[in-house]
Amino acid sequence: EVIDGGGRILLPGFVDLHTHLREPGREDTETIESGSAAAALGGYTAVFAMANTSPVADSAVVTDHVHRRGREVGLVDVHPVGAVTVGLQGEKLAEMGMMAAGPGRVRIFSDDGVCVSDPLLMRRALEYAASLGVVIAQHAEEPRLTRGAVAHEGPEAARLGLTGWPRAAEEAIVARDALLARDAGARVHICHASTAGTVELLTWAKGQGIAITAEVTPHHLLLDDSRLATYDAVNRVNPPLREASDVAALRKALRDGVIDCVATDHAPHAEQDKCCEFAAARPGMLGLETALAIVAQVSVETGDLGWRDVARVMSEKPAQIARLDDHGRPIGVGEPANLTLVDPDLGWTVRADELASRSRNTPFAELSFRAKPVLTVLRGRVTARDGVAAQPGTEVRA
Ligand code: DOR
Ligand code: ZN
Ligand code: ZN
Repeated sequence: EVIDGGGRILLPGFVDLHTHLREPGREDTETIESGSAAAALGGYTAVFAMANTSPVADSAVVTDHVHRRGREVGLVDVHPVGAVTVGLQGEKLAEMGMMAAGPGRVRIFSDDGVCVSDPLLMRRALEYAASLGVVIAQHAEEPRLTRGAVAHEGPEAARLGLTGWPRAAEEAIVARDALLARDAGARVHICHASTAGTVELLTWAKGQGIAITAEVTPHHLLLDDSRLATYDAVNRVNPPLREASDVAALRKALRDGVIDCVATDHAPHAEQDKCCEFAAARPGMLGLETALAIVAQVSVETGDLGWRDVARVMSEKPAQIARLDDHGRPIGVGEPANLTLVDPDLGWTVRADELASRSRNTPFAELSFRAKPVLTVLRGRVTARDGVAAQPGTEVRA
């Protein structure tokens, strides 16, 4: 098939290292099928499904199931993320080796939404991960500093009477795990970096030769805590929206390569979990269908980055971090490709009720953007075109 790309930007298919798909357990908010459609529409050809499902993805039974279901749907490669521990706030390491060796081939283990605060447990997890050649994705929250916290600790939260989440709760874990990874000879990946101090610590750790990488979310690149003034629970997220000075530092770090990539932390939630009081709402926001538009707005359209850099932060770097061999690299002649075609000047407005996600919790509703993915190709097969996802069901080969 000949694709007329006139005036469009052709990029390697995007890779999201951080997606919550809610299956198994909360299929009312997202399924592997609905999340895969959202991913394809967002220009993604691979997503990493976070482990805080119900049951938790802490065994090969769960991770292999997630992988198999992703294959059946066939709209995007769904790579299961394994939990570091057995269960939520678990005190025992999960059988990471079994998950890595199963057909789901788990490449990333994480404590995101599971939360491992014990440094000894994390040290052992990093040692185990090093022996398996997998990476640990660290949610980076010291829970003893975030008890009851619902918003960034700063003047805005103080004014509104909301309990604050200090930057130190993130930075303490980034520093700790950089050192633990160094000692274990392990790779550690920092999820959703959100503060200027985290950027400084990453700069330091990378300068020491520590195998540390980091991601930033579209929402932390675009929004700051001035959003809280509306009390709209759609703005509640972990880590919280920070101050404008943090946003500036995150954008610069992405430009300089201190932060390696963009990841969505796509976190679908039911209406009833988001409609209540700010402090009672669940944290998290949708991300897959709006990520490229936001990245283009804060980077290409400001002149900070070129499209070549967008390919780096949306595709090549995340593929490298996960050690995917068939995503995010140059395509050889005649090879089936993973591609995303972006219209840089489409101009569109986010309508929450038009999203393919089962949930509606987007803080970007009614905002207008210029760029949008208009065609996504997974191994030579069109998975989304002009805002319509392909029908699921055709099995895609591994
Ligand atoms: O905002 C968040 N939502 N942060 C997390 O760490 C977990 C996620 C979720 O699962 O909803
Ligand atoms: Zn997290
Ligand atoms: Zn998350």
